[in-house]
Amino acid sequence: MTQDELKKTVGWAALKYVRPGMIVGVGTGSTAAHFIDALGSVSHQIQGAVSSSEMSSAKLMSLGVPLFDLNDVDSLDVYVDGADEINVSMQMIKGGGGALTREKIIAAVAHKFICIADASKLVDVLGTFPLPVEVIPMASAWVARELVRLGGQPVYRQGVVTDNGNIILDVHNLAILDAVDLEWQINNIPGVVTVGLFARRSADVALISSEQGVKIIG
Ligand code: 5RP
Repeated sequence: MTQDELKKTVGWAALKYVRPGMIVGVGTGSTAAHFIDALGSVSHQIQGAVSSSEMSSAKLMSLGVPLFDLNDVDSLDVYVDGADEINVSMQMIKGGGGALTREKIIAAVAHKFICIADASKLVDVLGTFPLPVEVIPMASAWVARELVRLGGQPVYRQGVVTDNGNIILDVHNLAILDAVDLEWQINNIPGVVTVGLFARRSADVALISSEQGVKIIG
């Protein structure tokens, strides 16, 4: 199977967590896009979705899934999203698609975070994938110096402006042994909007697809 076929398999497998009448939190990226296709197939059975990006919103609307503003929703049962890396503690690096801030907000609201990923995303130690950090533009040089002080090598993501009007620094060469602490440290740098470490709010369930099928962790 190709990697995209594995992403499709796991995207559709997440449909079993969707119940009639639900408002579903929806992530961003190529794996989440397959989940959106799956959600479109049951659009008449659900109330709708809260989306983590303009890109996912456009796809949801094209499939007839009603969109809700997060402020109009009291609670969310599930949030389904991909990851760039996930470890056995269900901590993740996210933000390869640049949507990390809205993803983290919706993940915080949702009762259950269901991570959908192909097996290439499962790692022992987070940090081989460069860690995305969304930054207020005027703070980019200062934040980059602070990230170097923490041992990383930040690289400006060329040509990317987030849905919130900010820039992304991708931090290379971090072996993340204490993800909760690093998330806290980077979040506390003035000018940082969000770090793409999902350690304090990790996933509750991970669906991992491989040639052998979809494995459920959690
Ligand atoms: C977007 C994300 C994605 O979930 C992550 O980048 C994985 O993407 P893909 O499913 O395309 O491999 O965090 O901001």
